[in-house]
Amino acid sequence: MSHTLKYSYTLLAPIYDAIVDSPTRATRHQSLTQLNDVTAQTILLCGVGSGLDFPHLPLGANYVGIDLTPAMLKRAHQRLTPRLSTKLHQGDVMQLPYPNACYDQIIMHLILSVVPEPQRALNEAMRVVKAGGKIIILDKFLRAGQHAPIRRLINPLISKIATRTDVVFESLQRPVEVTLLSDKPALLNGWFRYIVLEKTVVHNDISTNE
Ligand SMILES: C[S@@+](CC[C@H](N)C(=O)[O-])C[C@H]1O[C@@H](n2cnc3c(N)ncnc32)[C@H](O)[C@@H]1O
Repeated sequence: MSHTLKYSYTLLAPIYDAIVDSPTRATRHQSLTQLNDVTAQTILLCGVGSGLDFPHLPLGANYVGIDLTPAMLKRAHQRLTPRLSTKLHQGDVMQLPYPNACYDQIIMHLILSVVPEPQRALNEAMRVVKAGGKIIILDKFLRAGQHAPIRRLINPLISKIATRTDVVFESLQRPVEVTLLSDKPALLNGWFRYIVLEKTVVHNDISTNE
């Protein structure tokens, strides 16, 4: 299904900013204020799209944006500025081409509810983030048990074109070292949420009694 999304985002690329930029600008700015101090950090943007986050990113870090769709990456490339150190890669967020624990923080704006297997995308983010690093999520999720009949009804079609509307964040598994730091409503009565996860250091409590 990723290939279907690649086709649809190729078609959406020329109009994506006109549809998405203005309604999400303040919200994505607010989301990015939740980053830790970014000085000298390396930060990954999963599903970077056309780079609508770029104007809101704090300076001082090295950013890497990955996306499946070359047409979206081309738009992101046009949005690059010299003040922001940014590299762009084509790739799949469900199979990130990076080693374990190599990013200080991860940004996942409007991607977990887009990919066909959000659990795989989250697993990959949790794998590549370093201990102490945050995963900043801005996305639309249903609550566990929420009926939302229209969103569930349209999901089979719209999930193939642009985005899923049936992802329940609470159904995604996290290992013990990943803590939910915050979960707040963002847009549309809390359909869109600001969620922050943190990968903590797990200390093996080895006490020796001599
Ligand atoms: C709704 S847009 C979000 C873009 C951007 N993060 C934003 O906030 O505007 C979803 C993006 O995910 C990309 N995408 C879809 N499936 C992907 C995958 N499996 N791996 C990487 N990117 C993917 C699409 O090409 C598109 O650019």
